[in-house]
Order: sequence, then C-alpha cells, then structure tokens
Amino acid sequence: MISIIGAGRVGANAAFQLAKEGLDSIKLVDIVAGLPQGEALDLMQCSDFRVDVSGTNDYSEIKGSKVVVIVAGMPRKPGMTRLDLAKTNSAIVRSICGEIKKHAPGAAVIIITNPMDVMVWVAAKELGFPRGKVMGMGGQLDSQRFAYFLSRELNVAPADVRAMVIGEHGDSMVPLPSQSLVRGEPVAKRLSGEQIGMAIEKTRIGGAEIIKMKGGTSWAPASAVAKMVKAILRDEKAVLPASFPLEGEYGQSGLSIGVPVVLGRNGVERIVDLKLDSAEMEQFRKSCEAVKGAISEL
Ligand code: NAI
Repeated sequence: MISIIGAGRVGANAAFQLAKEGLDSIKLVDIVAGLPQGEALDLMQCSDFRVDVSGTNDYSEIKGSKVVVIVAGMPRKPGMTRLDLAKTNSAIVRSICGEIKKHAPGAAVIIITNPMDVMVWVAAKELGFPRGKVMGMGGQLDSQRFAYFLSRELNVAPADVRAMVIGEHGDSMVPLPSQSLVRGEPVAKRLSGEQIGMAIEKTRIGGAEIIKMKGGTSWAPASAVAKMVKAILRDEKAVLPASFPLEGEYGQSGLSIGVPVVLGRNGVERIVDLKLDSAEMEQFRKSCEAVKGAISEL
C-alpha cells in the first residue's frame, strides 16, 4: 500500500498519477472529515484503475504501507515568514511521524511539505528509521522545471532533456547545466551561456510564478513524487535528486539537502558523488548554509 498523508492539491493529484501507474493500492489520509474519502471516490470513478484508492481520517488504516508520502501542511500565507511556516508545518509533520512510527514502521517516507529540506531533517529525527528510509521530494520537481525551460530554449520536447538540480528546494537551489543533457548531449553544446542562465532563472522562480497564477502547484510536484514512489516500489535503482540527511557526503553533515541518489527497494540506497566544478561546489556550500540556518532558527 502507498499512503498519502494530506489529500489536498498535491496529495490528491499524486494519488491520481500513482493510481494510473497501478503500482499498489492507495490510501489517502487527511484531518478534514470527508475530504480523503470524497477524493478517493471521485478517483475510483475514473473506472480504469487496477488498484484500489480509499480515503480515511484514521491513521490505523495506513498499517502495512510500503511507502508513506507526507504532503500535509499549510502553504505560506500573506504576512507569514518562512520561520512561521516552518514552525507550523514541523508540528504537523512531527505528529504525522508519530502515527507512522505506530502504524507503518517499515515504510519508506517521502516528505513534500515545505520548507521541505527542513521538514526532512525534522522527520528523520522524529522517526528514527534506518538510514535510507526518509527522504524529501523537491529536487526532482526543480529538475523537471529546469528540463522544461531548457527544452523551450532548445526547441525540443521536455522529455528529450534530462536535467539535474541539487541543493535546497528553495531560493538557493543549484541547477547543474554540466549534468544536464539533451538527447544524450550536454546542453552547453547546444545553448549559449545566456540561454542556460535564462533557464536557470526561470527555474528558480518556477514555483512562485504558478502559485501567483493559480494559488499552488499540483501536476508537476505530483508527477515528481510519483517517479520517486515508482523507483522504490519497482526497485528501479533510478538516479534522481532527493533531499537526504547527509553524513559527510559532499563535505556536509547536520542537514538534509538535495543530492542525486539511487532509489530502489530500500529507499535511498546510495548517494551519487557527482564531480562538481569549484563554482558549483561553492553554490552547493552556500545552499547548505541556507538550509542549516533555517534548521537552527527552528
Ligand atoms: P493543500 O492545502 O491543498 O493540502 C494540504 C492538506 O493537508 C489539506 O487537505 C489539509 O487538510 C491537510 N492537513 C493539514 N494538517 C494535517 C494533518 N495534521 N494531518 C493530515 N492532513 C493534514 O496544500 P498543497 O498545495 O497540497 O501543498 C501541501 C504542502 O506541500 C505545502 O506545504 C506546500 O508548500 C508543499 N509543496 C511542496 C512541494 C515540493 O516540491 N516539495 C511542491 C508543492 C507543494
């Protein structure tokens, strides 16, 4: 079973994309009475799924989950600082972790709730699960956005571009043109520095731009988490960026941040050690400082 905690915009959408994949049954959980049940009924009436989707307000029903996705929480409201948001959402994430420990102690846990890197750090501490089992989704979404903006510059389909963004899921993210390919070729062979710079800037504000237009994002984050869940349940050993608590990798520890990882049956099975140039390494270091600052404020 895949459990999704938070049946809002991203959670319900992720349920749809995962149900289409037909990987395993899906349980939607929310604190709002009726909401997860209603989303599940609406989803099942698509009538072309081979897996069951159900909704509940009772955590005991997540028992036996192989993967739990946490996407419950508040978006940032006008006048709310990042720290206010971190405080509110960390209380929510902590209480959900308590339920996961009780009912699904063998699950891999993927955090989406923002500020995501900080929430992964909080959840990893709270859960105390074996290393590899707790991670966050953000870099995969940023990489998809970077691929999209590069594809516009290249005049190809987004699916022809593989892009990589590491670092914080936030302002200090580190898009890596050196690790980004169009049909197997480095993008730098096909685009000018100015074009790549433009794609990077658009990626950085990609989420905010959509939030301004429609109040939140849904399709792209849901597709990104579906890729992560699929990699785990199908034991794909896929290389994707994920936020992960570092223990000396990339010279960092004491935080969770986006790095490329190998995702398989056991969750994060390995951290991929990319050869970054000195400028990229410096950007990554600054991004780590930003996340560490947010953790220590909390
Ligand atoms: P939403 O407001 O549509 O849905 C959140 C849901 O969480 C609501 O249905 C609410 O009732 C539920 N909830 C709140 N407290 C709960 C609790 N204690 N237990 C169970 N459910 C609870 O929000 P949306 O747009 O789905 O975003 C959710 C979170 O994901 C936000 O923090 C947002 O910033 C973050 N996000 C992160 C992304 C990433 O790439 N990491 C991308 C998009 C959103």
